Amino acid sequence: MVSSNFIPAMIYLDHAATTPMHPAVLDAMMPFFGARFGNPSSLHHLGRDAKFALERAREQVAALLGARASEIVFNSGATEGNNHALKGVAAQLKAKGRHILTSNIEHDAVLHPLQSLAKEGYEVEFVPVDSQGILDLEAFQAMLRPDTILVSLMHANNELGTLQPVEAVSAICRARAIWLHVDACQTVGHIPVDVKALGCDLLTLSAHKFYGPKGAGALYIRRGVRLETLVEGGHQQKGRRAGTENVAAIVGMGVACDIARVAMQNGEEDHVVALRQRLIEGTLRSVEGSYLNGHPTNRVPGIVNFSFEGIEGEGLILELDAKVGLCASTGSACAAGSLDPSPTLLAIGLELGLARAGTRFSLGRGTTEAEIDEVLRLMPGVVESLRALNPAARVALVGAQCDNAG
Ligand SMILES: Cc1ncc(COP(=O)(O)O)c(C=O)c1O
Repeated sequence: MVSSNFIPAMIYLDHAATTPMHPAVLDAMMPFFGARFGNPSSLHHLGRDAKFALERAREQVAALLGARASEIVFNSGATEGNNHALKGVAAQLKAKGRHILTSNIEHDAVLHPLQSLAKEGYEVEFVPVDSQGILDLEAFQAMLRPDTILVSLMHANNELGTLQPVEAVSAICRARAIWLHVDACQTVGHIPVDVKALGCDLLTLSAHKFYGPKGAGALYIRRGVRLETLVEGGHQQKGRRAGTENVAAIVGMGVACDIARVAMQNGEEDHVVALRQRLIEGTLRSVEGSYLNGHPTNRVPGIVNFSFEGIEGEGLILELDAKVGLCASTGSACAAGSLDPSPTLLAIGLELGLARAGTRFSLGRGTTEAEIDEVLRLMPGVVESLRALNPAARVALVGAQCDNAG
């Protein structure tokens, strides 16, 4: 069990942003910052030691995904993995076609590489989602074309937590020989993710989303899938991703994979689901004008997203932070001291006010019932006090946070 309470007076409900490292992960990493500092490409015994540790981690990552070790390419995280998958496939298959489909609620780490591809002449289209954030399968099928080369779909949305029908999409892609990339950054380590059951060709994960270190991730590339290299240089990882590997972090990621498997077997994620339901039910019951965003149950264990009528999510988070040291987040971006509504909340059909009001609480394995009850105890009063503030004061409050966030 990971405790998020290593800092007194803090309630950490921002696990979708990043998780605390599991102590066993840190223990496993430490020797590679010290005596075991070899370069895995070196032939001597110190290099071979690092190489051995790297290949062990590759097996651990592969085991969590039901993949072969040779199908795992280490990288710096999901942003790099998504860039590699999307740009690599687009370049590889450009003679075959230039049409790419994705959902209209993807993370920027998918959206922005696709925007770059669009500037290079690829045609990128966005499949709508329904009011709970689930991909519209009929629209998806209607949007497929003979020149569609790639579909990219997130496994769970990072703001809503809603899970996507990846298996249904992969069956459709298979039948048409279209490659499917899945950004599984919010699901790996929290629910079973089996690449064969999902039927995907490429899958992205990031260690810091499941109690591993930041700066380590992996791209699953199904055997037989060829794609252009993103990071060119030396011959590391059979030329699929050049650069000396971040051995310590990769070792930590491998251990985090083992820990996640055991944690899921031990029902630790079920505990997260139970606390999530407690937060959802308690909030909807006690806070007037509160709405749950996303699907009520078809969601990743830890992510909850609410909109509260008449307030901005930032104001609520700031107040709860001031009162109990709560760490949570919103999907809105601060732009010049004002709030842009969350594109994801707009995509599920929320009106502007509620799309600005989105507040994400993301729970983890270390979250306690007492922490959830404390949030539930405070929330009604804080929401009411924010509603009572005049709009100018609310804007000033949020503006202050925007400045802090840079
Ligand atoms: C769905 C999704 N994709 C990609 C990323 C980027 O991950 P990383 O921080 O490993 O680059 C995130 C991070 O929040 C995410 O939630």
